[in-house]
Amino acid sequence: MKSEPATRFLLRLPEVFAPHAREALALLEAETPTPLTGGWFITKLANAGALSGNEAVLFIPWRLPLEHSWPCNPEKTEAFIEKAAQSLAKKFAPRNPQAVLVGPLDAGPQNRYYKSLASNLRGRALQLFPKLPAGSADEQNPALPSLFCLVGKEGLFAGISTPREANGFHPGGIKFIKQSGGAMISRAGAKIAEALHWLRLYTDPPPPGAHWLELGASPGGMTGELLQRQYRVTAVDRAPLDVRLRRAEGLTFIPADAADFRPPPALRYDALLCDLNGDARQSLRAVIRLGTSLNTGGLIVFTLKTPGAESPDAILDLCRRIETEARGSGLTLVAKTHLTHNRQEFTLCWRRV
Ligand SMILES: C[S@@+](CC[C@H](N)C(=O)[O-])C[C@H]1O[C@@H](n2cnc3c(N)ncnc32)[C@H](O)[C@@H]1O
Repeated sequence: MKSEPATRFLLRLPEVFAPHAREALALLEAETPTPLTGGWFITKLANAGALSGNEAVLFIPWRLPLEHSWPCNPEKTEAFIEKAAQSLAKKFAPRNPQAVLVGPLDAGPQNRYYKSLASNLRGRALQLFPKLPAGSADEQNPALPSLFCLVGKEGLFAGISTPREANGFHPGGIKFIKQSGGAMISRAGAKIAEALHWLRLYTDPPPPGAHWLELGASPGGMTGELLQRQYRVTAVDRAPLDVRLRRAEGLTFIPADAADFRPPPALRYDALLCDLNGDARQSLRAVIRLGTSLNTGGLIVFTLKTPGAESPDAILDLCRRIETEARGSGLTLVAKTHLTHNRQEFTLCWRRV
């Protein structure tokens, strides 16, 4: 077992960017990245600030300073759990993390062995640490340090980070966020559920009863999810909503082009969600125009679709243009990421000032 200097990082690159891994890591100035399973890389970076200040971090939705590693095959290592838990407690308990969280490197559904190993290792480690303030990932304070550990066929990797710096509450940032129930109309419902969970790292979500304006709502996966969370929704789309949403309480559907929609002048929405497909700059223009109907401080959740932007450079260029235009129109960026439910797209969140 050996300890690592804090300049080493464990980075996760989503599968969708795998063909561009080399280019994305070069933009991060990552030195000699070593690939692991599940899209992970161990690499050396100048420092933690180099990562947060680098726009290419967009391709790395979850990251951890690597302070402890035990390269081994856990399946073939005698008393792996006991030895691993003892070394974690010895090294990290004196630093009083708010939580100890362990996850599998490969979060794929077929990887039962490492999921259960992770859970058993966490159980044993918790017996060795003093009682911790956060008993689960969701109870963590986003700004306080936690011990995150990942385990897989390459061994054990661990470090301390706040959930906000890591950009996720769970080790690896991967956790299936359940939709609230009811009819599953499209996978987009899981995307807004995940976005609202991730956003808690940076800001408070709108309270129940808040009124959302939703652009690009059909067939209604996100609409259904927002309604399940006791929000009111005005949904705009040229295409119809799923019949299951007909007569849904709290929903107003406007069958129109977003460019033509004019909200009643006196009406103010609390939040705006945009999942329009097509040209991202055109979608942003609709958001900026309709954003004037948001209350001051209103939240905007925007899916930035990147079709046509094939390389990391082209994606970052598009993102830069979108952010510049949004900033120039009085929107303040809260956070941006690539969610596990995102494909060739990112989720950006602004507040209207
Ligand atoms: C990715 S789908 C939305 C999925 C939806 N958010 C859900 O949760 O099921 C994109 C939608 O944008 C709509 N759309 C694209 N451009 C539009 C425009 N200019 N005005 C209105 N709707 C538009 C399409 O009709 C399509 O339904």
